[in-house]
Amino acid sequence: MGVRDADAERAGAADRNDTVPGVDAEAPLSGCAALVTGASSGIGAATAWQLALQGAAVAVVARRTGRLEELATRIRGQGGSCAVLTADLGDAEQARRAVEDTVGRFARLDVLVNNAGYVAMGPIEEGDPADWERMVDLNFNAVLHTSQSALPHLLRAAANGPRGIADLVNVSSVGGRVVRRNNAVYSATKHAVCAFSEALRQEVTGRGVRAGLIEPGMTMTEMAIGAGHLAARDLPQDAWLRAEDLARAITFMITQPSHAAVNEIMMRPTAQEH
Ligand SMILES: NC(=O)c1ccc[n+]([C@@H]2O[C@H](COP(=O)([O-])OP(=O)(O)OC[C@H]3O[C@@H](n4cnc5c(N)ncnc54)[C@H](OP(=O)(O)O)[C@@H]3O)[C@@H](O)[C@H]2O)c1
Repeated sequence: MGVRDADAERAGAADRNDTVPGVDAEAPLSGCAALVTGASSGIGAATAWQLALQGAAVAVVARRTGRLEELATRIRGQGGSCAVLTADLGDAEQARRAVEDTVGRFARLDVLVNNAGYVAMGPIEEGDPADWERMVDLNFNAVLHTSQSALPHLLRAAANGPRGIADLVNVSSVGGRVVRRNNAVYSATKHAVCAFSEALRQEVTGRGVRAGLIEPGMTMTEMAIGAGHLAARDLPQDAWLRAEDLARAITFMITQPSHAAVNEIMMRPTAQEH
């Protein structure tokens, strides 16, 4: 994993809280640094883009460096600041290093969005244990490692930062609340994320860090297409949520005034029953 050096000059500006050309110095997240995991596609990419438009310097992490570089180029084209990190977050060491590299680049961390995820569906009897481990390592264990690594930085940002608040947002799923057959392991990892988030929320309450939970319903992304959800679910394609819908919800959560914490948002397509 490595941070792209081409960002150094812009990141330096962010470190010094200089005005970034094209980004409104009065924007809600101006002077803040955010890390978004799983930002090479789907909800993560849309969220990184939205947070950058709100003035945050954004670190984006996933395995596909090329996709991250494309996003970073778009963000910089709008006058924003973006650091590209390549990591397999299913590896605990790499997950922790992603947090430290973000702080190394921007000298602070105000927002962590734990979004990276993987799904493999099917009956338990036919399940591949390698898929189970991949889901547990990425959907749950990575959240533990990035969250613990980020906490001291988030607490510092809450105490000394421009907003007097910091945010940790975990992307779970409707499957983290509603159990369905043929989705046992994914659903279990997302239930675990919900439980972890609520305990974390209680632990940091009163210390300036908000722990929020996002539970998307059926969203038209590579994950949904790859997992065969489009064909499996009885919902016309134009009825599915878009990644931008979830990015808007995450940004809403993060940009609340410091006295207001939106703890949880479940967002389904209007036409999704369960
Ligand atoms: N789409 C839905 O219907 C839906 C519903 C409920 C919840 N969610 C949740 O929403 C989140 C985002 O998913 P999405 O729908 O936006 O799907 P997506 O477009 O497939 O995005 C998944 C992201 O995770 C990254 N990722 C996968 N494995 C990784 C690894 N080992 N290390 C680092 N990054 C990894 C992917 O990047 P690389 O491949 O480049 O590594 C990608 O950026 C997930 O947590 C998912 O469970 C989605």
